[in-house]
Amino acid sequence: MKMFASLGFVFAALSLASCVPVQQVSNRNKVLLVSFDGFRWNYDQDVDTPNLDTMAAEGVKAQYMTPAFITITSPCHFTLLTGRYIENHGVIHNMWFNTSTGMRLPYYSTQGVDSWWDNGSLPIWITAQRQGLKTGSIYFPGGKAKYHGEEVNMKLVEPPVFNYSNETNWRSNIDTVIEWFTVNNLDFIALYFGEPDSTGHKYGPESAERKKIIAQVDRTVGYLRQRIRESGLESSLNVIITSDHGMETVLKTNEIHIGAISNFSFKDLQFELLDYGPVGLLLPKEGKLEHVYSLLKDSHPKLHVYKKEELPTRLHYANHSRITPLVLYGDPGYVIHGRYKVQFNKGEHGFDNDAMNMKTIFRAVGPAFKKGLVVKPFESVNVYALLCELLGIVPEPHDGSLETMKPMLPSEFQAALPEMCGEMRKDMSHEDNQPRPQRIAQSS
Ligand SMILES: *[C@@H]1O[C@H](CO)[C@@H](O)[C@H](O)[C@H]1NC(C)=O
Ligand SMILES: *[C@@H]1O[C@H](CO)[C@@H](O)[C@H](O)[C@H]1NC(C)=O
Ligand SMILES: *[C@@H]1O[C@H](CO)[C@@H](O)[C@H](O)[C@H]1NC(C)=O
Ligand SMILES: *[C@@H]1O[C@H](CO)[C@@H](O)[C@H](O)[C@H]1NC(C)=O
Ligand SMILES: *[C@@H]1O[C@H](CO)[C@@H](O)[C@H](O)[C@H]1NC(C)=O
Ligand SMILES: *[C@@H]1O[C@H](CO)[C@@H](O)[C@H](O)[C@H]1NC(C)=O
Ligand SMILES: [Zn+2]
Repeated sequence: MKMFASLGFVFAALSLASCVPVQQVSNRNKVLLVSFDGFRWNYDQDVDTPNLDTMAAEGVKAQYMTPAFITITSPCHFTLLTGRYIENHGVIHNMWFNTSTGMRLPYYSTQGVDSWWDNGSLPIWITAQRQGLKTGSIYFPGGKAKYHGEEVNMKLVEPPVFNYSNETNWRSNIDTVIEWFTVNNLDFIALYFGEPDSTGHKYGPESAERKKIIAQVDRTVGYLRQRIRESGLESSLNVIITSDHGMETVLKTNEIHIGAISNFSFKDLQFELLDYGPVGLLLPKEGKLEHVYSLLKDSHPKLHVYKKEELPTRLHYANHSRITPLVLYGDPGYVIHGRYKVQFNKGEHGFDNDAMNMKTIFRAVGPAFKKGLVVKPFESVNVYALLCELLGIVPEPHDGSLETMKPMLPSEFQAALPEMCGEMRKDMSHEDNQPRPQRIAQSS
């Protein structure tokens, strides 16, 4: 009894001493977050991937990771960086748009629109820097923007015209990462590759070209780990390799053409964002919502049409002012065509995040991770909490749960972690009913 009482006292004292710098900067572990865009969860199952296999044997691998909806690049990457569902961070599309003027900006230009990104959720770069860490971004979505006037300490921004598959460029970016960790002493870097997404779109996820680019990704993982060893970072650097979404083969029969739906007229719309994979955003003119809705609803067996407040809550894609009153999406394989057919990709993403082909990868290796552990699937909103824990920083409010990720960390590491804002953190992360990863296999 007495012992319990004194333990309780120590615990209370720790909680009171909460929000202070939590680790000596000198022995703080570093973190590298790598995203290979559009890496479907099972892309390594039909290609030899010796380097990814070695990494899994030496670290942690999830069976798969469920991305946020809509399963597209900028929104899903911002979920990784903030731990928030898309409706909560506000980066609801790859494209900036204004429903009053009809203006739209493509992916690349939208990277530079600060107000699009800085919509109430801070990416981990800024939070880490405010707590005394140094951070970097190489081509990572969101890395070009300013947040409350602050920006990532060091960055490379993707050139406007760019060959995504250039392996020489990949290696040079890895060399830059090593230099920033060793010479510039950064604590956290986010590194982005535009493949295998680009190849998956162009040739389709089942193509020989996709298999070839996965072999290139694997060589790159080998190169990264070799450079980490050579530079003496191995004992202090945690590496996470993940992605934003998967890839689905586009079906070319029974296609969804919104313009061909009987009695539907674009004249009833004030604004539309169509022809962007399987997702459509529509703002009907005043008084036309019910009319447009009733025409589109049940107009095609593969088309889902929702008033935004009726969208299934599991998708977390309704509660934001930027989301238009009508949200459309196609069943896996079906993209949505608007006025004209302008989409000719063989592979696409953006579909329901329940669809297996939208699931993506999560791999981790480094001093903080267990070895040879395969964990059950989890949602990508949880990655942010793990990143904050690894860096020893206090997270912003988020939608993830650190508990979901903790089984990846050895108990010694968990014990060594400081008791940061214990009570506060509990309030901030909405504990949910997501399945907890469990140890289902261990090779060492
Ligand atoms: C959209 O354009 C209108 C008209 O120019 C402007 O008043 C409004 O602020 C713009 N909205 C956004 C989000 O940029
Ligand atoms: C987010 O953007 C919307 C419009 O695009 C704007 O009305 C809102 O004020 C922004 N919120 C924050 C916190 O920046
Ligand atoms: C991109 O570069 C690679 C070589 O690095 C080359 O094989 C490929 O054809 C290039 N792609 C385009 C579209 O130029
Ligand atoms: C590939 O990248 C290297 C290094 O960034 C660059 O020098 C070269 O011009 C690129 N080649 C192509 C085909 O884009
Ligand atoms: C289209 O409009 C015509 C004339 O109002 C009507 O007779 C017909 O039922 C409508 N069709 C559909 C599918 O709504
Ligand atoms: C919707 O978002 C607002 C903040 O923009 C938040 O206060 C509210 O709780 C959210 N509602 C739901 C149902 O999530
Ligand atoms: Zn992507």
